[in-house]
Amino acid sequence: MPSFTVYKGSKDGSVKQTKTERPELSADDVLVKITASGLCGTDLHYRNQDMGLGHEGVGIVEAVGPQAKYMKKGDRVGWGYEHNSCEHCQQCLRGNETFCPERAMYGMADLDQGSMASHGVWREAFLFPIPDGLSDEHAAPLQCGGATVFGALHQYGTQANETIGVMGVGGLGHLAIQYAAKMGCKVVVLSGTDSKKEEAMKLGAHEFVATKGAKELKVSRPIDRLLVTTSAQPQWDLIIPTLAPNAIIYPLSVAGGDFTIPYMPSLFNGIRVIFSVVASRYIHQRMLDFAALHQIKPIIEKFPMTEEGITTAMNKLDAGDMRYRAVIVPQ
Ligand SMILES: NC(=O)c1ccc[n+]([C@@H]2O[C@H](COP(=O)([O-])OP(=O)(O)OC[C@H]3O[C@@H](n4cnc5c(N)ncnc54)[C@H](OP(=O)(O)O)[C@@H]3O)[C@@H](O)[C@H]2O)c1
Ligand SMILES: [Zn+2]
Ligand SMILES: [Zn+2]
Repeated sequence: MPSFTVYKGSKDGSVKQTKTERPELSADDVLVKITASGLCGTDLHYRNQDMGLGHEGVGIVEAVGPQAKYMKKGDRVGWGYEHNSCEHCQQCLRGNETFCPERAMYGMADLDQGSMASHGVWREAFLFPIPDGLSDEHAAPLQCGGATVFGALHQYGTQANETIGVMGVGGLGHLAIQYAAKMGCKVVVLSGTDSKKEEAMKLGAHEFVATKGAKELKVSRPIDRLLVTTSAQPQWDLIIPTLAPNAIIYPLSVAGGDFTIPYMPSLFNGIRVIFSVVASRYIHQRMLDFAALHQIKPIIEKFPMTEEGITTAMNKLDAGDMRYRAVIVPQ
């Protein structure tokens, strides 16, 4: 029976190293030895829960169950927020398994393990081969952050002649800039202050607008699609005037409260809103291939896979000081 180390959250928010034991590998189970784990903003919402932390995993296959067909010992694989779905419902059949009523996602299922661990056991059907050309450390943040922003852009038909707004330059945002730029779009970044301007431009942004304290935001071309990747909901009344008619807002933040936007300006401009959560497996795989082809890489800060290392990384992310994604690596 596989037995391995996992790092869990706890009531007081401290990270606890513990052991978990899983049944013998059955069906298409795959035992993965973890080599890198990203730390996503969403992990901060779970640090007070008694559950395995992390959902941006990369590692090497160590053993496979009797029905695993496509992966073998030694393969490099990754996984993200979703671990399982029924594979029979309408959503699953149309490749929309992120909305399967029986979906197993981070924080809802498999709470005994996560990507901050020595190993994990996951279904082969929800693992992704990592393309050559992406290192483990660079591939880890793509498993949730990359999938989420690429998913919103890809699923709804982004075109190269569009202007893409990226609001919030964190783990998700700094990847969104790169994906949108490599898709051939004009990228306008909306960020709290000017402090991230230089790096955002280096990542492919064409324009940078600081939002804090602004009464009005000026953009050179109205935004066709706006990816909102801030950790809290933004001030929508400031944003609506920057949007083109029929623009799409993708609220991606995991945040409390209601979604309230100015009604009449949105109505008169035919503004559309599409909430979005991570990406289906089909899009996830396309996202990895796209990143390998265009050499899209997160900017990472590495931390050791220890209680102290993970805690330090979480505190830094929480304080808004991460540039731009923490990657937790085994010692
Ligand atoms: N929908 C999904 O499927 C999905 C998937 C993954 C993550 N998420 C959520 O997406 C959000 C971003 O995740 P992340 O990992 O990129 O987090 P992150 O690295 O902390 O980035 C969030 C960014 O938001 C801005 N920000 C920070 N504090 C803020 C505040 N109080 N008000 C407004 N903006 C603030 C900052 O950007 P600036 O300095 O540029 O302003 C910061 O870099 C989180 O809420 C996360 O839970 C959603
Ligand atoms: Zn289903
Ligand atoms: Zn995430």
